[in-house]
Amino acid sequence: MGTPGPDGLWSRVDEYFESVCLPPDPTLQETLRRSEESELPAWAVTPLQGRFLYLLARSIGARRMLEIGTLGGYSAIWLARALPPDGRLVTLEVNPKHAKIARGNLEAAGVSDRVEIRLGRAEDSLRVLSTETGPPFDLAFIDADKPSSASYFDWAVRLSRPGALVLVDNVVRGGRVADPMDTDPNVSGTRVLLDAVRDDRRVTATVLPSVGRKGYDGMLLARVEST
Ligand code: SAH
Ligand code: DHB
Ligand code: MG
Repeated sequence: MGTPGPDGLWSRVDEYFESVCLPPDPTLQETLRRSEESELPAWAVTPLQGRFLYLLARSIGARRMLEIGTLGGYSAIWLARALPPDGRLVTLEVNPKHAKIARGNLEAAGVSDRVEIRLGRAEDSLRVLSTETGPPFDLAFIDADKPSSASYFDWAVRLSRPGALVLVDNVVRGGRVADPMDTDPNVSGTRVLLDAVRDDRRVTATVLPSVGRKGYDGMLLARVEST
């Protein structure tokens, strides 16, 4: 992945803010170490982004959360830590190897009682979830296969309560998202999502562009007004 920014500046600034905001966290460091050792792709949110998700979840008193794209469970640990003891995070993952590593990491982080990993294509798991009774979600974090983001966003809104937050990771993609001619399916898929958001009267949305150790990217943040 290299060191993003001129002479690694963005990574250094990330490290500086981490030293300001985030006390050393052996559990999360161990999660990243095990993920690397297992050769998972370096796709986990950054520590500052994890703390951001955690703060949002706590700020709205989220009790039920949905994550699409578990990987090694790094963002799931941040989200789960924001839950009350009887809260629940459902996280969807298609890759059995990723799910297995995540299960170990969630166990080691002491949050496995609050987290349910559902193995399978997210599209299928979402359809099943929609048939289950139970309270709607207070927060959803979408971070899986980017060409499906528009579909996941629609599901997330439908499965959430008014006032819920829906976040989508990686919508900036080094700025390539602003190029309508870009043919990368991750970019065009993200533009399909953003075109849908433009016309979606159910939500109020913004994007937080960011630079940091993962480069120039950012998250979409939407508040569900009605479902
Ligand atoms: N949220 C994680 C990173 C997720 S990376 C974190 O920040 O720590 C994206 C994950 O989505 C990968 O593990 C990938 O296997 C999973 N994924 C890709 N396509 C999927 C699909 N169709 N259904 C469910 N998960 C999928
Ligand atoms: C990619 C996916 C992610 O979820 C992410 O945060 C960074 C990169 C990718 O597919 O390259
Ligand atoms: Mg991501």
